[in-house]
Amino acid sequence: MSDRPALDFEAVWEVASTIPGWLTEEQAKLLFDTARDLSSAPLLLEIGSHQGKSTIVLASAALAQGGQVVAVDPFVDGRLFGGASTRTKFENNLREAALGDAVELLPEYSTRARPTWTRDIDYLYIDGKHDYWTLADDLKWAEHLPDGAPILVHDCYSSIGVTLGVLAHVLPSRTIRYERRCGSMALFRVGRPSWEDRRRILREVPWWLRNVLVKILLRLRLRPVASRLFGHEGPYDPY
Ligand SMILES: C[S@@+](CC[C@H](N)C(=O)[O-])C[C@H]1O[C@@H](n2cnc3c(N)ncnc32)[C@H](O)[C@@H]1O
Repeated sequence: MSDRPALDFEAVWEVASTIPGWLTEEQAKLLFDTARDLSSAPLLLEIGSHQGKSTIVLASAALAQGGQVVAVDPFVDGRLFGGASTRTKFENNLREAALGDAVELLPEYSTRARPTWTRDIDYLYIDGKHDYWTLADDLKWAEHLPDGAPILVHDCYSSIGVTLGVLAHVLPSRTIRYERRCGSMALFRVGRPSWEDRRRILREVPWWLRNVLVKILLRLRLRPVASRLFGHEGPYDPY
């Protein structure tokens, strides 16, 4: 076990909130609280780290229990994610957060890393590539989790690819059950789902369709319409 004092969420968010990313305070708290519930020396796996906002939240929770986060991100090039310069920012942000060796970076696509992965993990956070095929593959990391372990998925019920992946692979699953969501951050757990768990996934579909319509309006530069019809404020997609 680590002899570091357990950090409270407010102290962690003070650091993480300064880092650019797509995570609300409530979503960060859900990541943090579910990670703090794990037993000693947990291994957390994060898919999609960007500049380290969520990594710092997860690693702070893990460190208090002597655990570690494996951060999987190939740092893809492009306008949205920034490529190699983002990796430098990720490394600088983690150094400044003074998390020691609580984070191990795996600079690789999740879909390339998974087939040869052999270690047990205790927690899975999925926030990498948001297309259907990648999400479907990323869910397969759950094979390394024990019963009851959390699986958190960001941009669930807001991204088309992620939501189709959840409807195709989690809704009929016998080993993953839906618990709840905070905005687009969905919390699933390894375990046999009840019919009510499945119904709760279906009950999110209208909210997903609303988010898809908001995204279309934003692409059409119709922000005022998105605000008037759906109460969506700001230039960013709902998350
Ligand atoms: C939405 S950002 C992640 C945000 C991050 N979780 C945060 O809190 O700021 C998505 C990240 O996924 C990465 N990515 C894209 N495809 C990936 C893949 N196949 N495996 C892992 N990461 C991927 C991108 O490089 C990008 O940094």
